[in-house]
Amino acid sequence: MKTRFTDLFGVQHPIAQGGMQWVGKAELVAAVANAGGLGFLTALTQPTPEALAKEIARTREMTDKPFGVNLTILPSITPPPFPEYRAAIIEGGIKSVETAGYKPEEHISDFKAHGIKIIHKCTTVRHALPAERMGVDAVSIDGFECAGHPGEDDIPGLILIPAAADRLKIPFLASGGFGDARGLVAALALGADGMNMGTRLCATQEAPIHENFKQKIVEYDERQTLLVYRTMKNTARVARNAISERVVAMEKEGAKFEDIRHLVTGIRGREGLESGDLDHGIWTSGQVQGLIHDIPTVRELIDRIMREAESIIADRLNRLMAA
Ligand SMILES: Cc1cc2nc3c(=O)[nH]c(=O)nc-3n(C[C@H](O)[C@H](O)[C@H](O)COP(=O)(O)O)c2cc1C
Repeated sequence: MKTRFTDLFGVQHPIAQGGMQWVGKAELVAAVANAGGLGFLTALTQPTPEALAKEIARTREMTDKPFGVNLTILPSITPPPFPEYRAAIIEGGIKSVETAGYKPEEHISDFKAHGIKIIHKCTTVRHALPAERMGVDAVSIDGFECAGHPGEDDIPGLILIPAAADRLKIPFLASGGFGDARGLVAALALGADGMNMGTRLCATQEAPIHENFKQKIVEYDERQTLLVYRTMKNTARVARNAISERVVAMEKEGAKFEDIRHLVTGIRGREGLESGDLDHGIWTSGQVQGLIHDIPTVRELIDRIMREAESIIADRLNRLMAA
């Protein structure tokens, strides 16, 4: 299957794996690359820019296919050393970057100056258009269904993707709620050049998280996510658990970030993913968990998606036309 996305990034399939804090490590990214997709290491999962340089080298030992790095720019009291992380990406010879978050201008212009292809992830058409004007090569647009930060506009993919197709000139990926061949064919039909997945790839053999989380994603249906930080206008979609239920209840009572900070720290999330304690911290998961029923290898997953997508187009849709 050839699309503007596969042409632009030089990959076999129109499938990407977006940056995922604590999950987007060499094992997963190399598996996605070897299966013909485009995986992104998550820069800030590495504690230092030096550690990121090592992770890039480690990924390269596991694949000779293209892969990228995600740089997530979130407002922070003590911001990470972004220029040094950028330098590690550029000096590491990375050819594609997924930027996400607030005010990406400085990062985009530096990556562009070094000839790196940029896919900017955002959650609204009104943010995708300025990114296009800034000169990014592609956009990944996350609907309200997505894991992580869906923004505050609450527009689901069924509207967001064709709305983006109407306005954007550059190639773009549909993201949020995609996990199987039906999603891929729908994304293409709605005007996207491929799909980006997060949650689906957490429930694979190679995802470097405790087995308990993978089993829980399979067990959960589409209703088992919650929106935290809604009242702070920094919404995040996470799995339902003891902590996210408590945070939502506290927000209803008027809690401020200071009141919930001890519950939602990144370190707690990471410790949970490592130990397998599902209620230790917040963990990110999207509504697509309702469509996830197994824990395959990444290659089995991507091969299955491509095989079934071809059959949906060539058999099911084609037959409808002939009828
Ligand atoms: C565990 C997890 C962690 C994530 N962390 C990040 C992150 O650090 N930066 C980012 O840009 N997106 C992050 N995301 C969002 C994904 O890259 C992707 O946009 C999203 O998962 C798509 O929605 P889906 O889960 O329905 O496929 C994360 C998603 C998951 C599941």
